[in-house]
Amino acid sequence: MTRTPEFRFRRLRCTQVLRDLTQQIQLSANDFILPLFIEENIEEPVAIESMPGVMRIPETQLAQRVQQVWDNGVKAIILFGVSHNKDACGSDSWDEEGLLARCIKIAKKAVPEMLVISDNCFCEYTDHGHCGVVVNDDVDNDSTLENLQKQVVSCAKAGVDMIAPSGMMDGMIAAIREALDEAGFTHIPVMSYSTKFASAFYGPFREAVDSSFKGTRNTYQQDPANPREALAESMQDEAEGADILMVKPGLAYLDVIANIKSHTSLPLAVYHVSGEYAMIKAGAAAGVIDEQSIVLETMTAFKRAGCDLIITYYAEDLVAWLKK
Ligand code: PBG
Repeated sequence: MTRTPEFRFRRLRCTQVLRDLTQQIQLSANDFILPLFIEENIEEPVAIESMPGVMRIPETQLAQRVQQVWDNGVKAIILFGVSHNKDACGSDSWDEEGLLARCIKIAKKAVPEMLVISDNCFCEYTDHGHCGVVVNDDVDNDSTLENLQKQVVSCAKAGVDMIAPSGMMDGMIAAIREALDEAGFTHIPVMSYSTKFASAFYGPFREAVDSSFKGTRNTYQQDPANPREALAESMQDEAEGADILMVKPGLAYLDVIANIKSHTSLPLAVYHVSGEYAMIKAGAAAGVIDEQSIVLETMTAFKRAGCDLIITYYAEDLVAWLKK
């Protein structure tokens, strides 16, 4: 693409209308998914100190909160349970009367149109905080898959709209698809956390879900230094039957997003994680950046890189800002 020396880029930047007409990337309420943290056996919402503005909601207030989110224009939520019934394998997560199943039922009953997604992992339900069954100091892949199969079927029976496994076990998509199909839930899509890095950006999330976790997830989450493996992880999940792929975290991994996008025709999601949220909040509180502009620019970057869906704690703010 060459242009004459007389070409002037600024011609199309002269007026707001021209700039709007020629704008390539646009954000809308249809882009966003809001994470919600729900705790059982508490009376009042609990503020998460490292994530100003984000609360752990009591289970008893979930219905009300889901209605509020819907009224605010956000159409999709992803649920994280904060369990008081933790054990070594996270069995509460597949109990049909357990916290996760109950949250799904409450959310779907409150607003049937809301897209309700379950974060399918074990770290919020295990007493050690690992994302599965621990054998010889490491998460055992295949026994975790068996539990994951029970978990997703329990979620499906509770009425979940989409399954989102975040544990980074090998073979998790094939195992989930098989379990859902066998139980008659062939219509439920799977959004895989397909390329998820072992990242320091999840720091505040650990407070959010009250995790006792110590150590690393380096034997299951991916090394940020391996871009080839990052692509292969997502391609594997596509081959196993994932309906939507995901990269997590977001801003530090735009190259990975763009690369995966160029290799798939599936929708691609990104998780703008707790640490990214906390950094913007801290910068804004210190008066060194403008929060709204920074968030909108960040979301634009995700879409520019190739994302179709964005999971972000800013979802409600974004919809409000975009309305103006
Ligand atoms: C659980 C899970 C994590 C996040 C989402 N699902 C934490 C982790 O993997 O350690 C992080 C979300 C965030 O930081 O906002 N597997």
